[in-house]
Amino acid sequence: MSTLFVSGAGTEVGKTFVTTILINEIRRAGKTCRAIKPVISGFDEVNPNDSDTGLILKALGCDVTRNSVDEISPWRFRDPVSPDMAAAHEGRSLYVKEIAHFCRANAETDSIRIIEGVGGVMVPLTDRETVLDLMVDVGAPVLLVVGSYLGTLSHTLTALQAVQSRGLTIAGIVISESIESPVALSETQATLSRFTGEVPIIALPRLTASEGDQRTPAIAKAIGLI
Ligand SMILES: Nc1ncnc2c1ncn2[C@@H]1O[C@H](COP(=O)(O)OP(=O)(O)OP(=O)(O)O)[C@@H](O)[C@H]1O
Ligand SMILES: [Mg+2]
Repeated sequence: MSTLFVSGAGTEVGKTFVTTILINEIRRAGKTCRAIKPVISGFDEVNPNDSDTGLILKALGCDVTRNSVDEISPWRFRDPVSPDMAAAHEGRSLYVKEIAHFCRANAETDSIRIIEGVGGVMVPLTDRETVLDLMVDVGAPVLLVVGSYLGTLSHTLTALQAVQSRGLTIAGIVISESIESPVALSETQATLSRFTGEVPIIALPRLTASEGDQRTPAIAKAIGLI
């Protein structure tokens, strides 16, 4: 596996958080990593540092400049809404084929490529297509990032079934602990695992900045990326 598509059961579940963990892990293992976030909404061109694009660039060890932002996030929109709506608000349109082509371009054989999606697996990109159609076009294994909030079991299993029904491989599921969880992370993990067969499920606790890497699980290793 040299390309991984990081998607989620919804927005704000931890996709970027997990993407940066993967980048750090891959780089620590001495491998080359490429990471992109092709489509981003809610992007502030004046202050890109804390955006997903900025966080990914910093994890890659790159400066956050207009050029580096252009290189990994060509489709940027101002409004923090679904990409089809954000694009329409600016009189623009997205084309899944173009984005898929960008995702597949320059896939050097010796580097591991991570693509962070946008929103959840079925957020609309165009009038008729969702992120799932993009994932199908790209064809890479999917890492599903989900939360541990009340309601996550149904959201996760629904997202999982949607992805698998289109013939895509699920590389793994990361449960990134939500701020409010009704049960321990291990209980959510055990319950999900009864429905997910062989798919690796990784429990990622809610980490604080001061903890550094101490409680960060080895996600790339667990899903066979490195
Ligand atoms: N396990 C965790 N420990 C600590 N903080 C976390 C964890 N998971 C997510 N967060 C924090 O929660 C917030 C939302 O996470 P993140 O930005 O990664 O979500 P996302 O799925 O990438 O959202 P989007 O749909 O906007 O791309 C961020 O501030 C992130 O740092
Ligand atoms: Mg993100």
